[in-house]
Amino acid sequence: MCGIIGAVRKSDVLPVLLDGLKRLEYRGYDSAGIAVIANKSVSRVRSVGKIAALEQAIQTRQVLHGTTGIAHTRWATHGPPTEINAHPHISEGRIALVCNGIVENHEEIRQKLMSEGMRFVSQTDTEVIVNLVSREIRQGKDLLEAVKETTSMLEGAYAIGVVSADEPDRLVGARHGSPLVVGIGDGESYIASDMSALLPVTRDFFVLENGDIVDIQENRITIVDQSGRTQSRPVKTSSLSLEAVELGNHRHFMSKEIHEQDQSVSNTLEGRITGTRILEACFGNRATQVFDRIRSVQIIACGTSFHAGLVARHWFEEHGIPCQVEIGSEFHSRIHAVPEDSLVVSLSQSGETRDTLSALEHAMESGYAHSLAICNVPDSSLVRNSELVLMTHAGPEIGVASTKAFTTHLVALRLLVIALGRRFRMTETDEARLVRELRELPKQIRAALEIESQIRNIARQFVDKHHALFLGRGIHYPIALEGALKLKEISYIHAEAYPAGELKHGPLALVDNEMPVVSVAPNDRLLNKLKGNIEEVRARGGKLIVFADSRTRLRSQENLQVIHVAPVDSSIAPIIFTIPLQMLAYHVGLIKGTDVDRPRNLAKSVTVE
Ligand code: G6P
Repeated sequence: MCGIIGAVRKSDVLPVLLDGLKRLEYRGYDSAGIAVIANKSVSRVRSVGKIAALEQAIQTRQVLHGTTGIAHTRWATHGPPTEINAHPHISEGRIALVCNGIVENHEEIRQKLMSEGMRFVSQTDTEVIVNLVSREIRQGKDLLEAVKETTSMLEGAYAIGVVSADEPDRLVGARHGSPLVVGIGDGESYIASDMSALLPVTRDFFVLENGDIVDIQENRITIVDQSGRTQSRPVKTSSLSLEAVELGNHRHFMSKEIHEQDQSVSNTLEGRITGTRILEACFGNRATQVFDRIRSVQIIACGTSFHAGLVARHWFEEHGIPCQVEIGSEFHSRIHAVPEDSLVVSLSQSGETRDTLSALEHAMESGYAHSLAICNVPDSSLVRNSELVLMTHAGPEIGVASTKAFTTHLVALRLLVIALGRRFRMTETDEARLVRELRELPKQIRAALEIESQIRNIARQFVDKHHALFLGRGIHYPIALEGALKLKEISYIHAEAYPAGELKHGPLALVDNEMPVVSVAPNDRLLNKLKGNIEEVRARGGKLIVFADSRTRLRSQENLQVIHVAPVDSSIAPIIFTIPLQMLAYHVGLIKGTDVDRPRNLAKSVTVE
């Protein structure tokens, strides 16, 4: 999974491509490249590493000036991140192509093309696409016809952008499974993996659908399907502000996104609650009809979004709603005994995570009754493939380690719990209380953010550690999982989460004074049991760091550091207790000097299975 961008402009294309690549870097960043059509030939620069390395390579070579070009930032799937495997790939010196996705039948096509005498230089699946396009052009087709013919031969999920030295003012893009938008500029046109890449040059977009091919010639944009029929797609105007995708006063997007959680949570709630009730219509026109039928919930998600689902299971079941939660990649690879009238709830920040999309497709094919997406990106594939939708409105999340998407997912799930709970055992009084607690959230988030300086000090203790253990009980076990995930992503310290009650069944053997043990201690009915687990660790010489509700009477003592968090209602405690763990991971990463926003080997939006 990668980021792609392309443009046909009136002036030099290079600045727009480079700026766009930086905005897409969250999608992958192990190598990057640019190809520009200049003087009827293809000029290309590629480099291993991040966009900054590509910028440097361009400066030393000074070759890339023209008005048509494509660019790519890569997250390696087929072939390691070397310069040879970096995109754009070129065929016969005339055609350049960038791709985000995977061609599943690449081996078969490669063999066929090699038997016809075509040469391959990289280990990528993308090279078969550019060679196919080139072969079609050699047989007399123009660029659009060649792309149409080529895509009809490909299996997999991809989005591509192609240019040809023989048609210097033309750019052809195609979408099949991976996202692609077309930016409509003033006499200039663009393609990109997402809208944020093009915000400085346009706010108007066509969002391509699967099977669409876009033909950009100077400033004329035509969208056709595989058989060449013209398709009309509505123009969407992006409401994203440029500041939303810029750092402002923060050193990293992760820090910015942690600190804007009070605002993003307010945005998730805006227009969704009135007085003491939530407005069911926020889930879509058919929500009431669908919710009346629902007897159970099946949540599917990946990564951090999966952890949000694990928290929500406690909430659903507390109100009498049976709920299962499964990781997307596991869900789509097994056969299901489908419960009657079950609502599939998919959670995804990006709405483009391939495993979550495949899980949703698999659920609907298996006979699940209805689907609802909770998502942050409008017009994403997940949103378009779901019957009901609740957008989180968190604003762009750029840091690869998800933060505000997690807390806003939880808030959105809370709204769903209330909407469905009314049909189970939730009373109006319960609903009024839960709504009141939601209204309090932004204030409580701000209070939680205030302990950052204490966390910065604690973070120093992690710098030379190789392992950390996170403990949580009940609804806070998923919070421990999320805390451990954040720490390993950002600091590369091996971090593992355990349900605190399970400690005695194995992990206690690991406890010594070298491995920090982190826990959250809200003031809930499991507190006494958790205190017992804390003592089990201390008795074995373990060193604990506990984020505790200030009402818990937990106090710092030998081998136990307690950081107090302002009192919080137990129903929303998981949202609040996540925040210190996010800050802990951030500060450990910062002290260790890792690339906090772009940790090695990861990507923000994983569009491959
Ligand atoms: C990637 C990201 C994670 C994210 C996961 C699911 O692994 O690095 O931060 O939680 O994908 O992404 P989604 O967009 O579906 O929530």
